[in-house]
Amino acid sequence: MIILGIETSCDETAVSIVKAEGGLESLSFKVLGSAVNSQVKIHEQYGGVFPALAKREHIKNLPLVFQQALTSARTKESEIEIIAVTVGPGLEPALWVGITFAEKLGKKWGVLVVGVNHMEGHIASVLLNSKLQALIFPVLALLISGGHTELIFLKSWTEKEKIGETQDDAVGEAFDKVARMLGLPYPGGPEISKLAEEAREKNISLETKFPRPMIHSKDFNFSFSGLKTAVLYFLRDEKETNKLAVAREFEDAVIETLISKTKAAIKEYLPKTLIIGGGVIANKALRENFLNLKESYSEIEILIPEKSLTTDNATMIAAAGYIEYLRDKKLGGELKAQGNLKMD
Ligand code: KG4
Ligand code: ZN
Repeated sequence: MIILGIETSCDETAVSIVKAEGGLESLSFKVLGSAVNSQVKIHEQYGGVFPALAKREHIKNLPLVFQQALTSARTKESEIEIIAVTVGPGLEPALWVGITFAEKLGKKWGVLVVGVNHMEGHIASVLLNSKLQALIFPVLALLISGGHTELIFLKSWTEKEKIGETQDDAVGEAFDKVARMLGLPYPGGPEISKLAEEAREKNISLETKFPRPMIHSKDFNFSFSGLKTAVLYFLRDEKETNKLAVAREFEDAVIETLISKTKAAIKEYLPKTLIIGGGVIANKALRENFLNLKESYSEIEILIPEKSLTTDNATMIAAAGYIEYLRDKKLGGELKAQGNLKMD
């Protein structure tokens, strides 16, 4: 089945054409073509995404990105069998652009339009790895992005439960805010990552230790606003600060916290597969630390998306759309943007 995926929930306008095969037990995907337009440069001056601007840019760029994706996939419009579009969570004005576009195409071509939860897309992003044979349940998924930090336990593709989430800032948001304090451009995650890496290479570290928030709490929740504030006070009180050392210590605090909470959830829920998805897993040190868990948990398959699929993209939306289609729910109703859409 050939699927058109559309993603406009935040600041990337993305379209992807994916060939999907198999049932829920034996999913396989192949990307035929994709295109993306990033608005990062436009939002940079605001230090974050400005919703009205995001909407305007999506309206302008989506038809072009769609044409580029079709051309790169060498696919005819008539070959597309379903359309998958993000309906939430995200910025509602931005989400509506994708939904309206998808519904117009769906009517024109007479094909089904499936609404996709963006976070399910981040989970599905690991399925694009051609070496993956089959996903073994139960699955524990840690989702870490600019808007979300959550742990999801999946007994199957239809039975899932959120077991923990952030009480305040998302981890990507903390990266972005700390980067801003250090005078680095938006989005801050990749910038902090570069400085932290340089600090490790040069053996530069900070004497002060930032907090590892909620690391000993008995639940699986997170909190990153205290860590962010600790960095703020540190920068305010210190006369001379080494940005490299601050970036490294902040990143280490985040890594230790995420790893520790994930280990606690593994102990309690005994998953056979661990998935880490979302933009923050583009972070090199974090990827290495999660992959190193293989040494202590040889019985668990650890899946991380390839780097290009960590941040927002439409390939993961097409994959999640196929799963939604296979779940055999009542599909085909009118779609609505849901800024705060939760995992069901
Ligand atoms: O998943 P994503 O593209 O968008 C949302 O759904 O939010 O995640 C974006 C977030 C941003 O906060 C960005 O700073 C962060 O992912 N990010 C990183 C890195 N690359 C992107 N954080 C840490 N290290 C990175 N290398
Ligand atoms: Zn995302």
